[in-house]
Amino acid sequence: MQNQDSSQQQQQKQWPYSFSISSSSSSSTPTTLFNNPKPKPIILYTFIPISLISIIFILSLSSSNSHSPLSGPDPFLFPGHHPIIHDHTNKATPSPPSIAYLISGSNGDSGRILRLLFASYHPLNHYLLHLDPSAAMLDRENLALMVQVNPVFSAANNVYVMGKPDFAYPKGSSPVSMTLHGASILLRLNVKWDWFVSLNADAYPLVTQDDLLHILSFLPKDMNFVNHSSYIGWKELRKLKPIIVDPGLYLSEGTEMFYATQKRELPSAYHLFTGSTFSILSRSFMEFCISGTDNLPRILLMYFANTPSSLSSYFPTVLCNSRQFIRTVINQNLFYAAFDNHHINDPRPLNSTDFDDMIHSGAAFARKFEPDDPVLDLIDEKLLGRSPQSVVPGGWCLGEPGNSTCLTWGDANILRPGTGSRRLEKAIVGLLSNGTFRSSQCIFE
Ligand SMILES: *[C@@H]1O[C@H](CO)[C@@H](O)[C@H](O)[C@H]1NC(C)=O
Ligand SMILES: *[C@@H]1O[C@H](CO)[C@@H](O)[C@H](O)[C@H]1NC(C)=O
Ligand SMILES: *[C@@H]1O[C@H](CO)[C@@H](O)[C@H](O)[C@H]1NC(C)=O
Ligand SMILES: *[C@@H]1O[C@H](CO)[C@@H](O)[C@H](O)[C@H]1NC(C)=O
Repeated sequence: MQNQDSSQQQQQKQWPYSFSISSSSSSSTPTTLFNNPKPKPIILYTFIPISLISIIFILSLSSSNSHSPLSGPDPFLFPGHHPIIHDHTNKATPSPPSIAYLISGSNGDSGRILRLLFASYHPLNHYLLHLDPSAAMLDRENLALMVQVNPVFSAANNVYVMGKPDFAYPKGSSPVSMTLHGASILLRLNVKWDWFVSLNADAYPLVTQDDLLHILSFLPKDMNFVNHSSYIGWKELRKLKPIIVDPGLYLSEGTEMFYATQKRELPSAYHLFTGSTFSILSRSFMEFCISGTDNLPRILLMYFANTPSSLSSYFPTVLCNSRQFIRTVINQNLFYAAFDNHHINDPRPLNSTDFDDMIHSGAAFARKFEPDDPVLDLIDEKLLGRSPQSVVPGGWCLGEPGNSTCLTWGDANILRPGTGSRRLEKAIVGLLSNGTFRSSQCIFE
């Protein structure tokens, strides 16, 4: 084990020299260092994700359904084993990337999670659904059952339900551990994906997955979309100086978080950055956080364990203090949220009055929405073209228009982007066009 460690360290030392990013324009080629085979710490493989798809696994054993989720993906959705080589349609269009989604909610959120899954579904992506411990085990089982009986989900074999839930107290630090756990399971599924997106059940997409995957296919795969700021005003100080202990990290029953009577100084060993709880993170960055040999992600994990609402600061701070990743950050998370003056940390609920602002923002997602708010039906109808209880249609759906469009399917690599891709393109071109994104990249004030 000693020898292995030191050889990994030697390879690790070479990374900063071979790792160069030329993301100065949207046309630069993706850096492939992290996507290519690289040394992986062997010791991590001793951990077995038992909790993972255990529910689905158990259900599939007793099921007579002909679409068993363990039978492998449907050949109609994935013709050819190498979708990347299979690129004869259009030379100018790069092959579509894929996204790993962690969708999480609490007691009573099963319906919202399922609706969000339908609205953000694409066969190329991967979905891990998480109901925290406030929900009953029966809810988790029902969710897994709903996933399993859906012919599209079982054909693509890409939706998983987390059997053993994590406590996540939004005002504490446990959401960081929950998010990292979800990402590590998605990495461990050993499937190809390029970006990681963690969505709360109260979020909703504003573009179709075809729109989003189409636009992302033109971007370097190491880009991270993360709101961040090093400006620490009184509001931020009120958040960063207190020392908290999150009960979710050591009690089996969640109780209120407690605050230490003393406050602490801001760190001087690294720069703190605050941001938003939502971000779009590259696979290489998630690998750095979860299985990297650089200790920065773990040191910051321990620091932020005692900081309130630390999910909004953890990823921005790791990114902006890492020389490998600092040049990959875009200071915009492509997410729409509206805040009251009174509740600066908690976005206010969106309704149909906000519809035009949401569209004009060019964002890919928005939050927060009340369950089944009428504005969600408006988004389904006007932006996603989605019928109730159906997945959002894409280029892979070949059926008659209406409820059953996606019950007949073809090649998942064919994208049919619509008006949403133009909104997203405008927003991203605006961000990247005149190099202004460099001047807002991890600036320390
Ligand atoms: C993220 O940053 C952008 C601009 O940098 C801002 O317009 C947007 O409101 C921020 N979003 C959130 C959720 O804070
Ligand atoms: C939407 O919410 C805003 C403020 O939260 C409120 O003023 C407005 O009346 C609401 N609109 C609808 C259609 O409910
Ligand atoms: C879709 O299904 C609903 C009920 O499930 C039905 O009322 C509606 O007519 C269907 N629409 C189409 C276009 O088939
Ligand atoms: C270039 O940057 C300026 C200043 O941030 C901005 O106002 C302008 O819209 C940008 N130009 C383009 C073409 O996006």
